[in-house]
Amino acid sequence: CGIVGYIGHQQAVPLIVDGLRRLEYRGYDSAGICVLGPDQQLKTLRAKGKLAQLEQQLAQQALPGTLAIGHTRWATHGKPSEDNAHPHRAGGFVVVHNGIIENYLVLKQQLSAHGHQFRSQTDSEIIAHLIEEAYKQSADFPAAVCQALKQLRGTYAIAVLCDQHPDLLIAARNGSPLVLGNGEGEFFLGSDIPAILSHTRDMIFLNDGEVALLRRAELQIVDLDGNRRPYQSKTITWSPLMAEKSGYRHFMLKEIHEQPRAIADTLAGRISENKAEIILNDIQLSTSCLTGIDRLYLIACGTSWHAALVGKFLIEKLARIPVEVDIASEFRYRDPLINSRCLTLVISQSGETADTLAALRQARTQGAPVLAICNVVESSIARESDGVIYTHAGPEIGVASTKAFTTQLIALVLFTLFLAQQRKTLADSQRQELIAALMSLPRLVEEVLQLDEAIEQTVRPYLHARDFLYLGRGNQYPIALEGALKLKEISYIHAEGYPAGEMKHGPIALIDEDLPVLVLAIKNATFAKVCANLEEVHARGGQIFIVSDCDCSDLRALAREYFIIPTTHDDLMPILTSIPLQLLAYHLAVLKGTDVDQPRNLAKSVTVE
Ligand code: G6P
Repeated sequence: CGIVGYIGHQQAVPLIVDGLRRLEYRGYDSAGICVLGPDQQLKTLRAKGKLAQLEQQLAQQALPGTLAIGHTRWATHGKPSEDNAHPHRAGGFVVVHNGIIENYLVLKQQLSAHGHQFRSQTDSEIIAHLIEEAYKQSADFPAAVCQALKQLRGTYAIAVLCDQHPDLLIAARNGSPLVLGNGEGEFFLGSDIPAILSHTRDMIFLNDGEVALLRRAELQIVDLDGNRRPYQSKTITWSPLMAEKSGYRHFMLKEIHEQPRAIADTLAGRISENKAEIILNDIQLSTSCLTGIDRLYLIACGTSWHAALVGKFLIEKLARIPVEVDIASEFRYRDPLINSRCLTLVISQSGETADTLAALRQARTQGAPVLAICNVVESSIARESDGVIYTHAGPEIGVASTKAFTTQLIALVLFTLFLAQQRKTLADSQRQELIAALMSLPRLVEEVLQLDEAIEQTVRPYLHARDFLYLGRGNQYPIALEGALKLKEISYIHAEGYPAGEMKHGPIALIDEDLPVLVLAIKNATFAKVCANLEEVHARGGQIFIVSDCDCSDLRALAREYFIIPTTHDDLMPILTSIPLQLLAYHLAVLKGTDVDQPRNLAKSVTVE
C-alpha cells in the first residue's frame, strides 16, 4: 500500500492525487482520499479499483481544503472493495494505514464491547477506533494517537486527521516506510521518495516508534511517550524527472532503456583511477571482518533473489567462500546456522520488503554482520544494515524489476572483486581483466538494447502460447528463472525456468510443437552441453528461441528465433542475457494488452510478510 499526506497553503487534492499516482505501483486494488474542508468537515471519497476510478469521482465533486491524506491499497485483510478502501473513519478521526496489525481481532473485540461499530473487514479500521477511544479520555489528539499506537502489534505507517484540529496532520511509523518532505510553510508525506519528489528534495526519514506532528510552519517528532526526538533532514539527489516516463509508453520500457546509464552510475567512483582496484567505501565492514568470515548468506525475494543466485556463482568462483542463497521468507523459519563469522548479504531494490527485513533482523540477532545491496537511500534495510552498497538505478516504478536487477548484478560483481581483493584470492591480472570488462558494459548493454525492435517484431506468433520454458546452465540458470518470472509477472503466460541439464528429468515431458523454449546458449565451458540440450528440444518439436553471443549456423538451423548479443567476460554475461528476456516479456505483454507497469495482484514493494 501507499500513503500520502499534505498540510500547507495549496489545494491538497491535486497534490494527493499526484502522489497516489506515483505510489500506485505499491498496490492498486482501491484508492481513497480525505480532505479537511474550510467548514472543518472531513470529506472522504473512496473507490474500488485503480486510481482512475477515484479520479472520476473527484471530477464530479470538488473537495476544497489544504489538509488531506490519501491511500492506494494492496489488499491483505478484506477483499478489494469500497468499504475496505482507506481512509477509515471513527468519530472525528480519519486514518490511512500501510502494514499489518497482528492483534487486530483482539482489539476489535475489545472495541466492539465498548460499542464501536466497524464498516470494513480490514485490520486498519481499528486504528481510527482506538484513537477515538483514547481521545475520550485525554481530549489530546497527539496523546490519543500515541495511546492507540501503543496497543498495536505488527507494522504500520499511518497518517491521521481529526476534524477538531484543522492545523495538524499526524503521521507515525513502525516497520513500514514513511518519508516527510519539507516545503515552504507546508509539509508533504509519502510512503517513498518519488511520491513527493516533485515538490521538495528536502526530506526527513522517520524512525520506527516515532510520531510526526506536522503543522504548516512547524514539525515536531516525538516518541510514543510524547518525548521530543531530534531529527535531521537530508537532501535527495534523485531528480524529479527521474520519476517520469519521459516519452516512453511504459515505465518498464523506460527503465529497460535506462540500464546503460544505471550501470555506469553504479560503477561510478568504485573503480580506482588506474583501473586496478575496487573501492567500496560504503561497506563499512573492517578488513578483518571480511577476511575472517567463513561463509556468506545471500538473502532476498523475487527478482532480487535471482540476483543472489548469480552472486553465489561470482563469490564462490572468485572469492572462494561458500555461499548459501535463501529466499527471505524461508530463511527465517529454518533455524539457519549463523554466527559472527557468517556475513549476511541482503539484496533488495526497495529496501522495504518485509520478509527480507525480518531475515536481516534475524541474522543480526544471531550475531552475523549484515551488508545490504539496496536501491533506496534511507530505506529500512539500508538503515538496519552494518553497511550498504547502493545500486544507483534511480527510482524504479514499473512493478517488474529491470534496471534494479542488472545494477544488483553489478553491485555483486563489485562486492565479489572487493572481497577477492581483501582475501587475495584472485590474481591482479584477473581482477583487472574483469574491471576492464565492467567498464565497457554500458556500451555493450546499449548494443543489446538495439534488439528491441527485432524482438517486438517476433512476438506475435507466440501471443497465445500457454507456457514458456527458459533454460540455462551455470550463471545463466538464474537468468532463465528471471526471464520466466518477467514473463509470468507482466504477460500472465505461465513460464518456468530450469537448469538446461535438468530438463531431461521432468520438463522434457512438456515439450511439443506448441511450447516455446528459450535457451541461453553462451559460448562458455558448458556451451557444448547446452547445444546438446537444444538438440533434445528440437527433436521433440519445441519452438526454440536462442539468445547467444555466438552466431553459428548449426544453432541457427535449430532456432525459430535467434537473438545475437555481444560477448564479454563470462562472469558478466548474465547482465547482457537479461536484457533480451526483459524485452521479450515486455513486448508480449504489450501485445496481449496487459497492464505492464501495474500487473494484476502484484505490488512493487511488499511490506507485509
Ligand atoms: C515484489 C516485486 C518484485 C521484487 C520483490 C522483491 O514481489 O514485485 O519485482 O523483486 O518484491 O523486492 P525488493 O524491493 O526487496 O527487491
